[in-house]
Amino acid sequence: MTNESLLEFMDSLDDVDPLELSNTILMPNYGPAAICLVKGEGAKVLDSTGRWYYDFLSGIAVASLGHANPAVAEAVSWQAQELMHVSNIFANLIGPKVAAMIDRLIRLERLSSGPGRVFFANSGAEANEAAIKLARKYGLESGKHHIITALGSFHGRTMGALSATGQRSKQIPFEPLLPGFSHVPWNDVAAIESAVTEATVAVMLEPIQGEAGVIDPDETYLGEVQQLCRSRDLLLIIDEVQTGFARTGKWFGFQHYSIEPDIVTMAKALGSGMPISACWAREGLSEAFAPGDHGTTFGGQPLAASAALATIRKLIEIDAPARSQELGEAMLKMYEGNADIDSISGSGLLRGINLKSPSAKKVALRAMELGVIVNPIGEKVIRLAPPLIISLPELESACQLILQAISEVE
Ligand SMILES: Cc1ncc(COP(=O)(O)O)c(C=O)c1O
Repeated sequence: MTNESLLEFMDSLDDVDPLELSNTILMPNYGPAAICLVKGEGAKVLDSTGRWYYDFLSGIAVASLGHANPAVAEAVSWQAQELMHVSNIFANLIGPKVAAMIDRLIRLERLSSGPGRVFFANSGAEANEAAIKLARKYGLESGKHHIITALGSFHGRTMGALSATGQRSKQIPFEPLLPGFSHVPWNDVAAIESAVTEATVAVMLEPIQGEAGVIDPDETYLGEVQQLCRSRDLLLIIDEVQTGFARTGKWFGFQHYSIEPDIVTMAKALGSGMPISACWAREGLSEAFAPGDHGTTFGGQPLAASAALATIRKLIEIDAPARSQELGEAMLKMYEGNADIDSISGSGLLRGINLKSPSAKKVALRAMELGVIVNPIGEKVIRLAPPLIISLPELESACQLILQAISEVE
């Protein structure tokens, strides 16, 4: 094949139906897509047939500032023309500033404790891999490596993060897993205590189980887990990949419970869609990583970090935690008392509509026909995670459409 014909082939791809191409050339691990999204603006996205939708999933809690946010777009565009990438052999101007902001936001309520440190990666799973490796390295001298996580938890798909994930159906096809994990029932402190062995180094939990169906912790759960960790000399790792950056009405979900985790992982909203994630560890723990212990080519590179820095600035400017809290309350009111809804879980703008009947998929399909993208989880839960910049009238119109979908299907 000549280069000319290769370019011809490339250009001919513009004429292929995008859904057909996507559903045939990409591996089938995601299942076939129903629509192809081509543009976003604020809380809305446009598909390839010209239909607009309210995006009540935000790319799974990523687009907290909405789509095509001008501040983020400008920062990324400027940085792309300046310097996209340097290896971590060298320092860059942006990544460390993002790290300093992450540290500040995590320690907002305990600035008197010393600063932690940050490792940058590219996805939630990789942030959790870093957390697992850091905990193991920390426990090395005392012979500790075992990590306890919760059943139903989701920590990612790479082999380490998958081994931490408390969902057998996702693990079984990929066994043997990484050894050294125990999974105990969620919201059960005694179960964690019984699972602790001489080899246990850490407990790893989400502040809300997002992928399992937006399942809240009991009010006292995380506080009691922290007490247990302190008394048994265990690290507490909090996975904020989905809940971080004001999604739940606080900068981080753990801040609802006034706890002080040793390690916090984050991703999704951090880069507004630019792939960047981070693993933060408290002072005295991060030093367990020595040069050469861990790394990744793109981690904290200027382009991804520029998106993160602009995202954090904008989230502060709009007081994202307060906004998330207020809009979350408004959303809650719209669903309260509905005869087809059993309960609403979650907090801020991460919510689960728990339906009385097993019709989540049908409701999500109908909502999409009516112009709102929502996410069914299991048979009964509809996950809602709209952009935090959504206006109240937009939120109300979209919620009305979701209510219409529920009433038509139920
Ligand atoms: C709590 C939590 N941890 C980890 C992950 C994995 O993140 P990623 O898909 O970016 O690897 C997710 C993704 O949904 C998540 O919700």
